[in-house]
Amino acid sequence: MKNVVIVGAQWGDEGKGKVVDLYSAKAEYIVRYQGGNNAGHTLVVNGKKTVLHLIPSGILHADKVCLIANGVVFDPEVFFKEIDSLLSSGAITNAPYERVRVSDRAHVILPYHCALDAARETKAAGGKLGTTVRGIGPAYEDKVSRRGIRVGDLLDPKTLKEKLRHAIEEKNVLMAGLYGGSPVDLESLFESCVKLGEKLRPYVADVKSVLMTALAHKRAILFEGAQGTLLDIDHGTYPFVTSSNTIAGGALTGSGVGEGAIGSVVGIMKAYLTRVGSGPFPTEIEETEPELAEKIRTIGAEFGATTGRKRRIGWLDLVALKYAVEVNGLTGLALMKADVLNGLEFLRICTSYSLGGNTIYDLPSRAEDLARIEPNYEIYPCWPDYDAKKVEEFGDLPEELRGYIRKIEDFTGVPVVLLSVGPGREETLELSDPFTEVGKVH
Ligand code: GDP
Ligand code: IMO
Ligand code: MG
Repeated sequence: MKNVVIVGAQWGDEGKGKVVDLYSAKAEYIVRYQGGNNAGHTLVVNGKKTVLHLIPSGILHADKVCLIANGVVFDPEVFFKEIDSLLSSGAITNAPYERVRVSDRAHVILPYHCALDAARETKAAGGKLGTTVRGIGPAYEDKVSRRGIRVGDLLDPKTLKEKLRHAIEEKNVLMAGLYGGSPVDLESLFESCVKLGEKLRPYVADVKSVLMTALAHKRAILFEGAQGTLLDIDHGTYPFVTSSNTIAGGALTGSGVGEGAIGSVVGIMKAYLTRVGSGPFPTEIEETEPELAEKIRTIGAEFGATTGRKRRIGWLDLVALKYAVEVNGLTGLALMKADVLNGLEFLRICTSYSLGGNTIYDLPSRAEDLARIEPNYEIYPCWPDYDAKKVEEFGDLPEELRGYIRKIEDFTGVPVVLLSVGPGREETLELSDPFTEVGKVH
């Protein structure tokens, strides 16, 4: 049995939640290792929808343990809201801390992080990034500048107040001087942190040690990425990115396991592209084909699960996908939302870009260049509307869809291991099992 990492291969919202829920049946531990509640992962089981922001998407499987590892930025208020809603829906019962463990090393998102994120989005001179305003960037800044508050700190009131004092010192100057906001009151912040710490205590664990024991006993582990490759802080479309390493390497640094612990890396991709928030998007069709963009948005329900914003729509970009294959070391691809394109007249696939009269086959590093490249498309016939319930194997798929899958595999050299044709668990064709097999291209 191999351990599997799930990553977004595009700009997020590819359907990671659905795949993690599905694969959780084969794993014992499900681990979130980066990002925070900027994520919105949607699961549909027996027609019932659950949206998770922080708790791993394995939670609907009663016998699995969900871990929130050190690389996550952790908002305790959001965590308890999510626990309460899972308790009231019956997804978890009595002792939830046996099912969900939170790393003592994870950094905490506090209200001043959200306030700073919001102030920058509304008032910063450099223009909007279009963040989720969940305090993600400011919390990671504090981590890197070594004035962050970690989950373990919330459990020790004796040392907490000084740490908080240090954490808010500069922020108060910034908020008052640059953004016209109000300063943070240390006493009330301290009191609310102590209360949160007490409530959190039963959930807190040394997650790295839990993982070491799991590895020693050869228990299958599923690592659940958030966001997507093109939002990675180092390898994404900087500065229009999130503040963590969303690529597969983030699973190692964010959880404390070594490279040898990882068997397969599955990149989750849509049959088309979406992006939410600002930033360059070479194959976007909002202006060139607005009616089609609206149609895909409506059929695909492309509205953000966290902020409700409209997701921008574009054609599949194989140059960007190949890039994702490389920086993640993908061993398999899960092709999602193929049903949304059913019956379209034709499809475009971007296979190279033009930049300043040259044809290029890689992503330029600068957002300014990325914004002015022109995609070069190949046109493909689309598959008709067909009865997916009758499909049991690859050969049963319409030939145009088989052709689309083969094109993706030929271009990237990576097998498609799963095809998804609807939000439900059952609306899935598993072509090979990343926990046990090396998938084959078709
Ligand atoms: P994540 O952030 O990567 O987990 O993705 P989101 O949950 O934000 O967005 C994916 C959306 O597409 C969710 O509403 C899913 O329920 C839905 N979805 C997932 N797979 C499919 C599929 O194959 N077809 C359709 N129509 N919807 C899907
Ligand atoms: P899941 O896990 C799509 C985007 C935001 C913004 C940028 C920075 O559901 O795929 P941040 O709040 O992280 O500082 O915002 O990143 N973004 C996402 N886009 N899916 C997500 O998560 C995202 N999380 C952040 O829209 O452009
Ligand atoms: Mg999402």
